[in-house]
Amino acid sequence: MKYLTLHTGAKMPALGLGTWQAAKGEVAAAVTEALRIGYRHIDCAHVYGNEAEVGEALAATSVPREDLWITSKLWNNAQRPEDVRPALERSLGALGLEYLDLYLVHWPVQLSHAVMFPQSPDDLIPWTTEHALETWGALEDCVRAGLVRHLGTSNFSTKKLRPLLDNGSVKPAVSQVEMHPYQQQDRMREFCRDNGMAVTGFAPLGSRHRPAHQHQEGEPSLLDHPDILAMADRLGTTPASILLGWAVTRGTSVIPKSTNPERLRQNLAAADLELAASDMDVIAAMDMGYRFLDGSHWMMAGSPYTPENLWDGE
Ligand SMILES: NC(=O)c1ccc[n+]([C@@H]2O[C@H](COP(=O)([O-])OP(=O)(O)OC[C@H]3O[C@@H](n4cnc5c(N)ncnc54)[C@H](OP(=O)(O)O)[C@@H]3O)[C@@H](O)[C@H]2O)c1
Repeated sequence: MKYLTLHTGAKMPALGLGTWQAAKGEVAAAVTEALRIGYRHIDCAHVYGNEAEVGEALAATSVPREDLWITSKLWNNAQRPEDVRPALERSLGALGLEYLDLYLVHWPVQLSHAVMFPQSPDDLIPWTTEHALETWGALEDCVRAGLVRHLGTSNFSTKKLRPLLDNGSVKPAVSQVEMHPYQQQDRMREFCRDNGMAVTGFAPLGSRHRPAHQHQEGEPSLLDHPDILAMADRLGTTPASILLGWAVTRGTSVIPKSTNPERLRQNLAAADLELAASDMDVIAAMDMGYRFLDGSHWMMAGSPYTPENLWDGE
C-alpha cells in the first residue's frame, strides 16, 4: 500500500474504502472483509446513516487503532460553532472511536440546524467566509481537545479553501473532491501541492450507485470508455483498476466504494498499479470538467446556491 505523507508527518493510506450508499446490513460485512484483506483507510460520514454499522466492524477488528485511518464529515446542518463538537462526538460515538484521523467539512453549503436535506429554499443559508471561519475555529477546538487529528474540506473550491489557510491556526490537511478522468482537478492538485495538502478523490468509478434523482440524462460512463477498456485489456486488468491506478499514480488518494468481496480485493490491488507515462497521457486527454455529483440538489428554485457560487468556476 502506498501512503500520502501529510503536513503533520502522518501517513494516510492512498487507497481507502468508501461507504456512501453501502446499505445497512451490508456495510459491516464489507468493512470487516476490507480490513481482513488489508484496507486500512475507511471514508465515513454522518449523513451516510451507517456509521454505527461501520463501528461494529471497527469494534470487532484486531487491527490496532494506530494502523487505521478513519475519516468522517461534518454535515451541513451542524456548521454553527456550537453544533460542531456535538456532531463530531456523535460520529465518534457511532464509530466507537476516541478520535478521528480526519474530519472534513462535507459541503460549502449551510443548512438550518434541524434540516438534513432541504425541502424549501428557506432551509438553505447563504455561504459566507465569515461563517466558514467560525466553523473552522470550532473544528480547531476539537483538534486541541484530541477528538480529531487532521481537518479538511470536501467539495470546496481553491477559492473557498484560501481563507482557511490564511486565517486558521490548524491548516487543512486534505481536500476531498470528485476526481476521475472526466474531472481531473488539476487546479486543486496544484493548489494542494503548493500548500502542503493532500487530495482525495471521490466517485473514482463514476458513482453509478447514486440515487436516481442525482443521475443526469446522457451522462458519460467511465468504466465503459473505449480507451480505459483497451488499456485494461492490454494490461490484463479491469477498467476499475485502471481508474484507481491512475489516481494513485498521480499521487492522490482514492476511496472507491464496494460491498462486494471480489471487487473489494480488485480495488485494493489497484493501489499498487503504476501506470506508464504514455497511458497517463491518454487519460489526461479525457478531462472534460464533468461532475457526476454536480450539487444541483442544493439549487432548488429560490436557493442562494448556484453552480457559479458553489464551484467558483473551478
Ligand atoms: N465528499 C463527498 O461529498 C463525497 C461524495 C460522494 C462520495 N464520497 C465518498 O467517496 C466514496 C466513493 O464514491 P462513490 O461511492 O460515489 O462512487 P464510486 O466509488 O465511484 O462507485 C461505487 C460503485 O461502483 C461499483 N464498484 C466498486 N468497485 C467496482 C469494480 N471494481 N468494478 C466495477 N464496479 C465497481 C460499486 O458497486 P459494488 O458495491 O456492488 O461493488 C458501486 O456501485 C463514497 O462511498 C464516499 O465514501 C464522498
